[in-house]
This record gives sequence, C-alpha cells and structure tokens, in this order.
Amino acid sequence: MKIMAFNGSPRRNGNTAKLLKEALRGAAASGADTEYVDLYSLNYKGCISCFYCKRKDKDHGTCIVKDDLSPFLTKAKEADALLFGSPIYFMSLTSGMHAFLERLFFSNYIYSAEIPSVFGKKIPSAFIYTMNVTEEQAKEYHLPQNIAAQEDFADRILGIPPKTLWAYDTLQFNDYSKYESSVFSESDKKAYQEKAGPICLKEAYEIGQSLVQDTTK
Ligand SMILES: Cc1cc2nc3c(=O)[nH]c(=O)nc-3n(C[C@H](O)[C@H](O)[C@H](O)COP(=O)(O)O)c2cc1C
Repeated sequence: MKIMAFNGSPRRNGNTAKLLKEALRGAAASGADTEYVDLYSLNYKGCISCFYCKRKDKDHGTCIVKDDLSPFLTKAKEADALLFGSPIYFMSLTSGMHAFLERLFFSNYIYSAEIPSVFGKKIPSAFIYTMNVTEEQAKEYHLPQNIAAQEDFADRILGIPPKTLWAYDTLQFNDYSKYESSVFSESDKKAYQEKAGPICLKEAYEIGQSLVQDTTK
C-alpha cells in the first residue's frame, strides 16, 4: 500500500512541507509505504495540449511529454492514495501544483460519456492548503470557490471526493522585522499559530491515517 505526497511549494521546509510530512507520518504509522516529492525540485511544464492522451489509437492515461515529472505521473497512477499540498498564491494553487495537476488529471481524464477516468480504481486523496489569510478573509475572498474546481476534478478522476485541510494565518517569515510586512501583526500570527499549529499537525497526521483506511474500504 503506497501513499504519495506532492509538495507544491518552492519552500522545501515551509508550512506546506511540514503538514504533508506529518500526513505521511500518519500514513506510515498505519502501515503505508510513503513517497514524498518536492515538485519545485523538478523541471517540468503543464499540459501542452498535444492530445496524445485522448487519441483512440493510443493508450489512454499516458502523458507523452518526457521531462522530470514523467516518472512521477507513472508512480502517482500506481499509488493507492495521493496527497496534494499547496500554498495559496494569489488566492489559488501555486503554478507548480496547477501544472502538475494539468498533467496528472488531463492525461487520466477521457472525453467519454461512459467513463470519465482511466484510473480504473478509486484513489483516495487529500488537498492540504496553507495561506496567510485568516479563515474569515479566505471566505471574504471566495477562496474555497476559487479552488473548488480542482477538488471536483479530483473527485471525478480519482473517483472519491478529496479530503481537505486548511491551514490559515501561517507564518511566512522567521523574522518579520527584516521584511516590509506592516499589513501583518507578527505577534497575532505567532499567538494564532501557537494554538492552531499543533491542531493542524494533528489533523494532517489523521488525514494520513484516514487515507490508509479509505484504501481498504
Ligand atoms: C507569490 C506568493 C503569493 C501569495 N499569495 C497569497 C494569497 O493570495 N493569499 C494568502 O493567503 N497567502 C498568500 N501567500 C502566502 C503563502 O500562501 C503562505 O505564506 C504559505 O503558508 C506558504 O507556504 P510554504 O511555507 O509551504 O511555502 C503568497 C505567497 C507568495 C510567495
């Protein structure tokens, strides 16, 4: 039983990485083999719209583009559960995560009235989002609606609605005094993170565990 986590943040030890690794720790404690991938360490682009994956005379579910992402698209297809982690950039997913999802989802999505997906099995998944905004601000800026389409496609293509974890009001800098950041209150953020940080880590761990349970359903 294999669970893969994809970090869509360029920061290898940032907020998203911490939560993804905690989710994998939960999955491993429940007996899963795990693999962690830093998408920003790979050289790749999004879908180039070649439609190889849609051709009737070729195998569906194959992205023919060859780059650093290719082996991980194959591995993702073979995995039993998938974790997607992304910081929120301009009230959406990062471009690295978007590009990855274009390649993974489009190549496994058929324009067929009968079968929407070529995965051939249900793959539990989860999205972990980290962001500067508070929960109230996220609602105010319609963030859940902005990223709902990705979750809908995950549901349609992987066959099960994804779980989600929202980590609000994260710390962006170690030392706010070094950066122009007067829109934020470092002390408020730190106070919030002291309470919310451990709760998010616990939720991440539990998501990892629950993905393992879901694969056996
Ligand atoms: C280019 C860029 C754009 C960002 N845009 C937003 C945004 O629109 N909303 C938000 O809440 N946070 C935004 N952030 C903050 C990050 O989402 C937040 O710091 C996140 O927790 C970083 O995750 P990481 O530590 O894993 O990189 C942005 C950060 C960067 C670098």
